[in-house]
Amino acid sequence: MSVYTNKESLLAFLKPWRKSKKIGFVPTMGALHEGHLTLVKKALKENDCVVVSIFVNPTQFNNPEDLEKYPRDLDTDEALLNSIDNNIVIYAPNAQEVYGDDVEATDYSFGGLEFEMEGKHREGHFNGVGTILNILFRSIKPDNAYFGQKDFQQLQIVKKLVKIEDLPITIVGVPIVREKSGLALSSRNKRLTEEEKKEATLLYKTLSEVKEKFASHTISELNDYVKEIFKNNDQLLLEYFEIANENTLKTATKKSEKEKYRAFIAVFIGKIRLIDNMALN
Ligand code: PAF
Repeated sequence: MSVYTNKESLLAFLKPWRKSKKIGFVPTMGALHEGHLTLVKKALKENDCVVVSIFVNPTQFNNPEDLEKYPRDLDTDEALLNSIDNNIVIYAPNAQEVYGDDVEATDYSFGGLEFEMEGKHREGHFNGVGTILNILFRSIKPDNAYFGQKDFQQLQIVKKLVKIEDLPITIVGVPIVREKSGLALSSRNKRLTEEEKKEATLLYKTLSEVKEKFASHTISELNDYVKEIFKNNDQLLLEYFEIANENTLKTATKKSEKEKYRAFIAVFIGKIRLIDNMALN
């Protein structure tokens, strides 16, 4: 397994591959779990060479404590990737290598996608995501890049980013990987106690109930239903629940036969923030 911390050496390694082979890219912030491995396995099937970046990107965190406490364990990540294929290429730069002396995000306009849900609660987050991905995409120049649907809004924004930046990269969305309990896999789950993990299954349970009721209830009834579930829960604090149009991510107030809808939820369990979503029709 090759691990590069320096862009020039990574690019020198990739140069011969570019001529006739497909390069797949899985950008991550490390603390890898089965969700990431699913992306990597798909990338391995669909490309000749796979690069996994591991970089906790400072410009996408609006909460300094979240950035500081974000789990980091490069040795374990390397061992996990090695266990599925020892030809994966890891790119694990530091902030100086990526940003130089200017650790700043570019201001993007993603056609309004950035103002919905996560955008309302994590100011500047998607500018940070857009900035780091634009830097990585332009260096690595992959044919295909893989993203989990757990961050569904991010996935839609990345599709927009490659259009804005005119990058010839296919963005591949991959379904959410869940524990048996339904809890969506996330690097932040590593910070939950066993008890908190049990409590957190309420996100999946709630989304599944909303999906079941979607055809027979109005959106307003479903919003009230979810608020009621979390109202008396002193472990889980509901930050938002929304049913939104899958393409525009605009909050839905009425259903239309022609549109696709998804339910989105963000919840605090102690200081840890979890998100999840589910297709409804
Ligand atoms: O989803 C993530 O882990 C991050 O937002 C990403 C895409 C690696 C950019 O830092």
